[in-house]
Amino acid sequence: MTYQDVYENWQQDPEGFWMQAAEAIDWDLKPTKALFDENAPLYEWFSDGMVNTCWNAVDRHVQAGNGDRTAIIYDSPITGTKDKVSYEELQTRVASLAGALRAKGIEKGDRVIIYMPMVPQALEAMLACARLGAIHSVVFGGFAANELAVRIDDSKPKAIIAASCGLEPGRVVEYKPLLDGAIETATHKPGLCVILQRKEHPAQLIDGRDVDWYGFQDGTTPADCVPVEGNHPAYILYTSGTTGAPKGVLRPTGGHLVALNWTMKNIYNVDPGDVFWAASDVGWVVGHSYICYAPLIHGNTTIVFEGKPVGTPDAGTFWRVISEHKVKSFFTAPTAFRAVKREDPKGELVKNYDLSCLETIFLAGERADPDTIIWAQDQLKVPVIDHWWQTETGWTIAGNPMGIEYLPVKLGSPAKPMPGYDVQILDEGGHPMKPGELGAIAVKLPLPPGTLPNLWNAEARFRKSYLQQFPGFYETGDAGMIDEDGYLYIMARTDDVINVAGHRLSTGGIEEVLAAHPDVAECAVIGITDQLKGQIPVGFLCLNSGANRDSAEVVTEVVKLVREKIGPVAAFKLAVVIDRLPKTRSGKILRGTMVKIADGEDFKMPATIDDPAILDEVREALKTIGYAQS
Ligand code: COA
Ligand code: AMP
Repeated sequence: MTYQDVYENWQQDPEGFWMQAAEAIDWDLKPTKALFDENAPLYEWFSDGMVNTCWNAVDRHVQAGNGDRTAIIYDSPITGTKDKVSYEELQTRVASLAGALRAKGIEKGDRVIIYMPMVPQALEAMLACARLGAIHSVVFGGFAANELAVRIDDSKPKAIIAASCGLEPGRVVEYKPLLDGAIETATHKPGLCVILQRKEHPAQLIDGRDVDWYGFQDGTTPADCVPVEGNHPAYILYTSGTTGAPKGVLRPTGGHLVALNWTMKNIYNVDPGDVFWAASDVGWVVGHSYICYAPLIHGNTTIVFEGKPVGTPDAGTFWRVISEHKVKSFFTAPTAFRAVKREDPKGELVKNYDLSCLETIFLAGERADPDTIIWAQDQLKVPVIDHWWQTETGWTIAGNPMGIEYLPVKLGSPAKPMPGYDVQILDEGGHPMKPGELGAIAVKLPLPPGTLPNLWNAEARFRKSYLQQFPGFYETGDAGMIDEDGYLYIMARTDDVINVAGHRLSTGGIEEVLAAHPDVAECAVIGITDQLKGQIPVGFLCLNSGANRDSAEVVTEVVKLVREKIGPVAAFKLAVVIDRLPKTRSGKILRGTMVKIADGEDFKMPATIDDPAILDEVREALKTIGYAQS
């Protein structure tokens, strides 16, 4: 069957298509139908089935006689550790952890925050929650205490599972003070913190609230899997929106299982037993879907890699891991390849390793620039596939389904929509645009199984953010076009979200932090092009007239403030002080024009600009930090 056949099969009979895909999942009670559209435009999938995610990701493989197959390979160049966990061992560990959590009162529907570095226990914590039907929310380790506090107050967890520390190259990130600080700041106070003590930096536990990961499992009874409804939330994952308040993306259990399992063969072309590696972090959606759930649901071996593309110890780390663990499909972000390419442009380190096991490379998280793709193709001599998706969808919207058919690669395009997604380009009024014309990218409702049915406790925001602009469609927030051959091109965001090293950040969120500085009267943050990270944030500050402060000092202070409030992951290092911000006559800040000036691109003077002379000030200010040069 070709891609076209499969896509048409879905178009002609979506219900039959997804019911067939659902056959690959072990249900405690089979769903009677796939789509539940009673509350359209809110849709659900497989709602009347009963199922458990952990059973499908772990126990069923043991029951099928594959317990000795490796489930997780832990490879940490930072600590010099390598370890393997079989499916049988994983079952024992997860059942024990779930049993101890249950003994502390954690039940189906309770929220549990997980704040962990890249160690196998992070996956075990996710699976233990799934085993009980508890709803986890993993928070990325690079966020500051304040971001953690916001997520605690929104999801109101009964427990938090954390490690004592994370490890960045040359730096121990003490999680415990961040955790304690977050709980102190938050209004909601979780009653239990389970702490994995890492020998690199054990933490002081607080009596009555904190328990040791291993100690609290002593003498408890391992837990069995608790079947949940198909529409029960598997997890909440917070992602950046237009404002500083993150959106709690909900992932429904049944659709998540069905869709992820489908992708492993059809998109990533791996069979059970193959080694699949996504070099991301469990804190991001890629980590949820392709480090933890999909490979395990499908019976693959997944790799938990605690390291960086470069510097741990060198730019050959990726190739070492691929060859040593016989990785068949490798998934990373373009920024990681740009980092490797910068250190080893000629691919000298590639030659040190036997990479004959590697069949395909997948890139996502940001636009894959043609230079990076060509470099990777030249070095690795395998197809390099760009695919486009979002936290909201949890799996590929458009890509190249390697297990079905290898579509000829067009550089700059993540190829074609996957079954389940009717992708259209719309103008501002919601009218379809012609091939080659740039517009908003929208997906006709319903979205397929596994995608977000709603936001956690924020239905009005869900409708406003995604459903309101184009009735009958999901608004992706990306802009782009579809060419004559049906290939999609993702060009830009239509909102204030920027993409820094494959991480999604809200410029509005950073502006909120800058505006809180006592000497800042007004500010704007834009994302400008960066050779390594794709984009980086730059702040423009207008100071209070009476402030009488040294500009450089204020810049240093706001940089520190963003690191403290949002975290190092914001990569906010550049800000400039200017007298006024360029605005339209109605007061709207001209961020788009500022970006073009910074990137040295041509731009049309906005007809509604209040005072064009301010753009020269913007240009001069950017020159002081090395931008707007051409
Ligand atoms: N815990 C604590 N701090 C973290 C962290 C974590 N889990 N992850 C990153 N940070 C810190 C970094 O140490 C860095 O701190 P610094 O300002 O003190 O140097 C800061 O956050 C910015 O990190 P990052 O943007 O990742 O930059 P980097 O210079 O450390 O590394 C790359 C650059 C390109 C190597 C790196 O960004 C990378 O590997 N990116 C891959 C992205 C990816 O996998 N994205 C997932 C989507 S698919
Ligand atoms: P996140 O939710 O963090 O995965 O970020 C999703 C956003 O990242 C998308 O809406 C896009 O803006 C961008 N993105 C992800 N993958 C790609 C890709 N392959 N090409 C272009 N942009 C991408």
